[in-house]
Amino acid sequence: METLKVCVIVALWLGVASAASLGVVQTEAGKVRGRNVRLGIFRSVDVFKGIPFAAKPEMLEKPKAHPGWEGILKATKFASRCLQISMLQTSAFGSEDCLYLNIWVPHGKDVSSNLPVMIWLYGGGFMVGGSMGANFLNNYLYSGQEIADRGGVIVVSVGYRVGTLGFLSAGDSSLPGNYGLWDQHAAIAWVHRNIRPFGGDPDNITIFGESAGGASVNFQILSPHNKGLLRRAISQSGVALCPWAFSKNPRKVAEQVALKVGCPTDNTMAACLKSTDAKALTMAAPPIQPGSPDHPGVLGLLLSPVLDGDFLPDKPENLFHNAADVDFLAGVNNMDGHLFTSKDIPSVGKKNVETPVEDLKRLLAAYTKEKGQAGAEVALAEYSSSWGSAPSQETIKRTAVDIGTDYIFLVPIETSIYLHATYARSGRTFSYLLSEPSLMAGPGKPYHDWVGADHADDLQYVFGKPFTTPKAYGDRHRKLSGYLIAYWTNFARTGDPNEGDHRVPAVWPKFTSGTNRFVNISGQMTESSVGQDMRLGFMRLWTRILPSLPSAGGSEAQ
Ligand SMILES: *[C@@H]1O[C@H](CO)[C@@H](O)[C@H](O)[C@H]1NC(C)=O
Ligand SMILES: *[C@@H]1O[C@H](CO)[C@@H](O)[C@H](O)[C@H]1NC(C)=O
Repeated sequence: METLKVCVIVALWLGVASAASLGVVQTEAGKVRGRNVRLGIFRSVDVFKGIPFAAKPEMLEKPKAHPGWEGILKATKFASRCLQISMLQTSAFGSEDCLYLNIWVPHGKDVSSNLPVMIWLYGGGFMVGGSMGANFLNNYLYSGQEIADRGGVIVVSVGYRVGTLGFLSAGDSSLPGNYGLWDQHAAIAWVHRNIRPFGGDPDNITIFGESAGGASVNFQILSPHNKGLLRRAISQSGVALCPWAFSKNPRKVAEQVALKVGCPTDNTMAACLKSTDAKALTMAAPPIQPGSPDHPGVLGLLLSPVLDGDFLPDKPENLFHNAADVDFLAGVNNMDGHLFTSKDIPSVGKKNVETPVEDLKRLLAAYTKEKGQAGAEVALAEYSSSWGSAPSQETIKRTAVDIGTDYIFLVPIETSIYLHATYARSGRTFSYLLSEPSLMAGPGKPYHDWVGADHADDLQYVFGKPFTTPKAYGDRHRKLSGYLIAYWTNFARTGDPNEGDHRVPAVWPKFTSGTNRFVNISGQMTESSVGQDMRLGFMRLWTRILPSLPSAGGSEAQ
């Protein structure tokens, strides 16, 4: 009897004690109520799904404020992802009404207040992507719950327009483009205005993203429109300087799209495109091609941010002064190019098929097309300089992956980090290399034994999947996931990945334009996993030697 009484009292007390929750939250457009998820006796997360941060956008126009609602919005269901082509490019799915965000707020014993805020921007080549529920089968890759709970930060994920609806541009004021970037900016501004009643600190906002999301993060801090809204930014495997991230000839693409949907290409083009059916316009995007050594797939990604004279008043490399007071942490996976290069040269990824050196030459020729024969020769000389007279197939295939990694990701990412450090005032700069071996590599697995961190491999670790689906991972992966969440959330809290509530395995030195230091992250890292001058010879090749060669006449600018 006595025991039962104690049990009841304990149960009641636990019920009350674990109920820290925001309840109904007032936003500028109306009230919202989320759902409280209990994770432990004194741990819970309030989850808000599908809060609108802008009205349903007009076709090819900037987003506008939401008109607001009466009563309490039940923020318990994800919204639709933005209208986009399907994986097979045979249909379009999603909705034009897609400017919504999700929020995860962690609580301890008491309801949280003044927490750092991290806003996630998804990748997908500016063509596809979403953070509204399961990405693949039942796996919701971008759930903010683990980062929020383990890191003690608020996580927000936002929708932004992609494909033609997000990035079509006529290259003039009739259709300036960058609609997807304006959406992201509207979400950032909404968070800045509304996050306090959710328990967030509007002066401690970090944006983070991967691939096209990493490039988006970079564009957001380069734009003068986010001044004062953001303190920090994390770009994973993508920056504004990536060759696929910035479109130099958007007019040509717009005219191709116009012809496909039956619009004229004269000065009535923009008006006609704006009144086209949204699905038809989405399907009219230039198709994503499989790629070959002569036509690498990434060069076919043609719908991306542009110089519009407004969101981006100049070329990205000339805008780093706008990020001088923003802390910037960025980096690359050591084999980020593997996914792409093994599509452009299929033999690279096959265990029993030889890769001819000739294919590497063709790939380099495509990447250095502007410089003609001389460019390809200089580049091949650098990439084969350590080969000796009889390079093994492993050496040749690894070199092919290095070429892809350098051109598509590493060189532009390091350049962006360097420019940030050069223009920085109060902003700090941090650089990383992720070198965790691919889970698909090894005997009996599809990839070669030597394949390291492939494109997008970082996502599962940053979002804590080794903790939520432990059977798919080993202890080293849980370590790695813990390290990344510690570095990322320390950075969000203090602007320094080493300082904060979480212990880190190695002191991550600041990057300055004299020391060029980076941390080498993996599940086996130690306190000495720090490097300097990442791929120096290849940086020199792509940023000094190749640009100094005369352009070969007649090559068409991208
Ligand atoms: C951000 O959060 C940290 C930790 O809560 C706090 O010390 C700091 O003052 C906050 N504000 C800024 C602008 O960094
Ligand atoms: C990074 O660390 C791994 C061990 O985890 C090591 O094999 C690799 O050589 C290191 N890379 C660099 C560039 O320091």
